[in-house]
Amino acid sequence: MSDKQAMLTIGDRELPLPILEGTTGPDVVDIRKLYNQSGMFTYDPGYTSTASCESALTYIDGENGVLLHRGYPIRQLAEHSSFMEVSYLLLNGELPSADELDEFTRTITRHTMLHEQLATFYRGFRRDGHPMAIMCGVVGALSAFYHDSTDISDPDHRRISSHRLIAKMPTIAAMAYKYSVGQPFLYPDNSLSYTANFLRMTFGVPSEAYEVHPAVERALDRIFILHADHEQNASTSTVRLAGSSGANPFACIAAGIACLWGPAHGGANEAALNMLREIGTPDRIQHYIDRAKDKNDPFRLMGFGHRVYKNYDPRAIVMQKTVREVFDALKVDDPLFETALRLEEIALHDDYFIEKKLFPNVDFYSGIILSAIGFPTTMFTALFALARTVGWVAQWNEMISDPGQKIGRPRQLYTGPTQRDYVPLDQR
Ligand code: ACO
Repeated sequence: MSDKQAMLTIGDRELPLPILEGTTGPDVVDIRKLYNQSGMFTYDPGYTSTASCESALTYIDGENGVLLHRGYPIRQLAEHSSFMEVSYLLLNGELPSADELDEFTRTITRHTMLHEQLATFYRGFRRDGHPMAIMCGVVGALSAFYHDSTDISDPDHRRISSHRLIAKMPTIAAMAYKYSVGQPFLYPDNSLSYTANFLRMTFGVPSEAYEVHPAVERALDRIFILHADHEQNASTSTVRLAGSSGANPFACIAAGIACLWGPAHGGANEAALNMLREIGTPDRIQHYIDRAKDKNDPFRLMGFGHRVYKNYDPRAIVMQKTVREVFDALKVDDPLFETALRLEEIALHDDYFIEKKLFPNVDFYSGIILSAIGFPTTMFTALFALARTVGWVAQWNEMISDPGQKIGRPRQLYTGPTQRDYVPLDQR
């Protein structure tokens, strides 16, 4: 709390409002008492100027393209860390010692299996169901299978459900894929790393040994790091809002998955690759740039623009570099990468994109890598959900552990009819 305050003038009244200071980033005007003192609400649909909570997890400076997890820059984490280590960092606040990391990894690994009956649950879905639809259903159903960890007032239950969610998500996502291609489910192999295990459960078959390509494992682990958390985005805010009512963590994460699926959010990685495929060759780019600029055309460049970043998304920089690494390791190429690079270049030199500060975001290049690894586009957002689960869980834990936590309950500007009398049917 600082001594600074803002002064709000309403007619001839002056209302002092406290200003709160974080460790970095913009100060915040504390309006919690505004309604009591003035009888007025603030209006901010889309939360463009509203801090919905206090958090010590992730910091974004959108103007300068900075993303920090617990203070550590994303580029350093992507280069030097592992997804398990970043998960520990997000959940616990500090980087682990070697022993702490071993213990954490062992704990997560112990929880990778799913209740056997969940396999029958999958069989209720159509084979062509979208993996995100299946993820919403299966993750929501976890609370019916693991009710021994749903008492949110018990820190042990919260810890165990968090570990279960992080550990089971690769199994759930891989099973969604296996179901769609009609292959048998593979049980986890706990001798493998988190990411290698996921690759094997997705691409392996029971009849053959599956060798994990180390470069692919490293690239996918890095993609998981890049998606691990991102402050109070739409799906994280959804998880917090669902959790604020005391809902169990499995239900809250299912709500987050539902929100993430939208094309304006995590669904953009699938949409971005589909768009690149539609554009095809660089000679067709200008047509799509023109469409994106046309106010009468709903088309947008997918994987471009961000609510917070008004500069290059630092995750997109790492992602772009990773494309080449994966191509080199797998000795493949994809002409769509050239199209994507060219599209980026043209957009970044176009006045429309310059004025609106629209840059590639994390979703622009990720699809090219995931496609080279062998994932179908429908799995892209499921992979995002898998990785973001750690951020959702960490944010949910932070909220529930806050003694001042309240149910989230926004107000509204009402513009409907005022009170009127009911008119019987025969008189209407
Ligand atoms: N292509 C063309 N124009 C765009 C784009 C785009 N991708 N993104 C924004 N604009 C334009 C808008 O038309 C608007 O123009 P206007 O001021 O003339 O009306 C202006 O830029 C601001 O855009 P808003 O939609 O108001 O910005 P907002 O912060 O609400 O939206 C969003 C951000 C949803 C990410 C938007 O940029 C978008 O739709 N991008 C494409 C989808 C995408 O890539 N989403 C992934 C985001 S990252 C993530 O969730 C992991």
